[in-house]
Amino acid sequence: MRGSRPLSPQSNQQQVEKMKLAQTAIKKRTSKPNFFTTYRTHVIISIIVGIIIIVVLSFTKQIKEYIIINQSEINFHNSQGYPYTLGPNDFFQNVTLMQAKTLFKNDFTQQINVEKCKVPINFEIPTYFNFKESYPNCSHIIFNQGNCSSSYSIAVSSAFSDRVCKVNQTQQLSAQNLLSCDGKLNQGCTGGHITRSAEYIIKHGLTTNECHPFRGDDNFQECTKTFEKCQRYKANSFCQLQNKDDIKRDIINRGPVVAIMQVYKDFLVYRDGVYQVLEGTPRFHGGHAIKIVGWGEQNGYQYWIIENTWGTTWGNEGLAKLAIDGFIDLSQQALSIIY
Ligand SMILES: *[C@@H]1O[C@H](CO)[C@@H](O)[C@H](O)[C@H]1NC(C)=O
Ligand SMILES: *[C@@H]1O[C@H](CO)[C@@H](O)[C@H](O)[C@H]1NC(C)=O
Ligand SMILES: *[C@@H]1O[C@H](CO)[C@@H](O)[C@H](O)[C@H]1NC(C)=O
Ligand SMILES: *[C@@H]1O[C@H](CO)[C@@H](O)[C@H](O)[C@H]1NC(C)=O
Ligand SMILES: *[C@@H]1O[C@H](CO)[C@@H](O)[C@H](O)[C@H]1NC(C)=O
Repeated sequence: MRGSRPLSPQSNQQQVEKMKLAQTAIKKRTSKPNFFTTYRTHVIISIIVGIIIIVVLSFTKQIKEYIIINQSEINFHNSQGYPYTLGPNDFFQNVTLMQAKTLFKNDFTQQINVEKCKVPINFEIPTYFNFKESYPNCSHIIFNQGNCSSSYSIAVSSAFSDRVCKVNQTQQLSAQNLLSCDGKLNQGCTGGHITRSAEYIIKHGLTTNECHPFRGDDNFQECTKTFEKCQRYKANSFCQLQNKDDIKRDIINRGPVVAIMQVYKDFLVYRDGVYQVLEGTPRFHGGHAIKIVGWGEQNGYQYWIIENTWGTTWGNEGLAKLAIDGFIDLSQQALSIIY
């Protein structure tokens, strides 16, 4: 973020004190003060306050109007030889930084304690694995969350869907079901927790996407309609994965995992290669839910393969490689939803 630092209120106050002292001294010397000497303090304070207002306003305007997809910034990044490239996408077309902020209202949990997974150490972890390649019949639509902070519902339903499919070859399960019908557990398009989404699936299960198709908004009314004829798939339990190896073993044993990540500005225009956070890149406040489908290694960088919720024009057909040992540590907030 650019912009000059506004004056601190403290130094402002000190200045006012000095002014007052100076004014008293002047008053003592001159018996008949003119207009300027009487109102000098007021004039100076007004000027200082005016400057502060202008600085703050222009700074706010700059953030509000900052367009995310800037081809000259993208070209500059791509000329630097970094391990990942950037490129435009439809999802953030004409979207400003200020508007994008509303998308990241997802977190791991509101619980104090989440049960920890006990993953058996039953095999050697391969250097490469991709659930989507190992289970091509489970390849599902990559949704686009639109202007709705619903990555929690898409990532959770999609990971659970893959896990059901691994066992039962079902159709894709409904992200809309979770987004519209769990009204009391999460906050629809204004965000949610991934453990609460998992609780919903344990209690109510998910219908198929065909039965309750994805629209992307949070129309709770829709759920007064019952989906009686629809089959529901319920989860058994969930637990928090404790380290990178456990995540890998769990993906091979059961299927994709959901994780919460921090989003940095250039991730919005990620295109290909192993993403990592470069020093000085601004970070969004709040979290974003993604699905981890596998891992690998490229040019000495180990990476996770993640599926995002910004449609297929973002990244590599909607997927990204994220450095495992980089600044973003997915192993801190990774959830296994057990079918
Ligand atoms: C794109 O970025 C460059 C360099 O930061 C900046 O000078 C330019 O104004 C930006 N363009 C737009 C349309 O925001
Ligand atoms: C973005 O804005 C340009 C010009 O304002 C417009 O032509 C274009 O259709 C917009 N694109 C999207 C995806 O809204
Ligand atoms: C995938 O689906 C096709 C038909 O839908 C089926 O013939 C094939 O056996 C399935 N593959 C696997 C690995 O289950
Ligand atoms: C998204 O919706 C919010 C209100 O919820 C609005 O302020 C913002 O401008 C919208 N962004 C876009 C890109 O339409
Ligand atoms: C899943 O598949 C098993 C057999 O493989 C079957 O017994 C079970 O009913 C299926 N479950 C659902 C929900 O379709």
